[in-house]
Amino acid sequence: MKALSLAAFVLLAACHPAAEAPKQITLTSQSITLPVETATLPAEILSVNCAACHSPEMILSQPKLKPEQWQAEVTKMRGAYKASIDEKDDAKIIAALLALPNQK
Ligand code: HEC
Repeated sequence: MKALSLAAFVLLAACHPAAEAPKQITLTSQSITLPVETATLPAEILSVNCAACHSPEMILSQPKLKPEQWQAEVTKMRGAYKASIDEKDDAKIIAALLALPNQK
């Protein structure tokens, strides 16, 4: 950011006649407000393996899936999105997903 504002300053200063004082440029950063997360995942294995990328609410609002569909999801997370989910934990993760309240 420093380099950018310096470049902008140099550029503006170069465009202005020497007599005129360079205009003050104030760069303000954007601010965003994230929604307050109220949901929590009931299984630690899901917090560890899914919550790095997904909010608990996202996991808890998924449609009811069959075990093989959840397995396909976990495999996709690992393959397509490079989630570091150990294959050894797949069975436990699938069981925890199937036990979620939205899967009943
Ligand atoms: C490294 C980050 C990462 C991790 C960890 C991760 N995901 Fe994802 N997941 C993604 C991304 C990226 C998408 C695609 C989001 C989009 O398309 O808006 C996604 C999408 C999904 C979807 C939506 C359907 C789909 O296939 O696109 C589900 C369901 C899902 N993830 C479940 C999980 C579960 C369950 C876990 C834990 C076992 C998990 N994810 C872990 C990155 C991750």
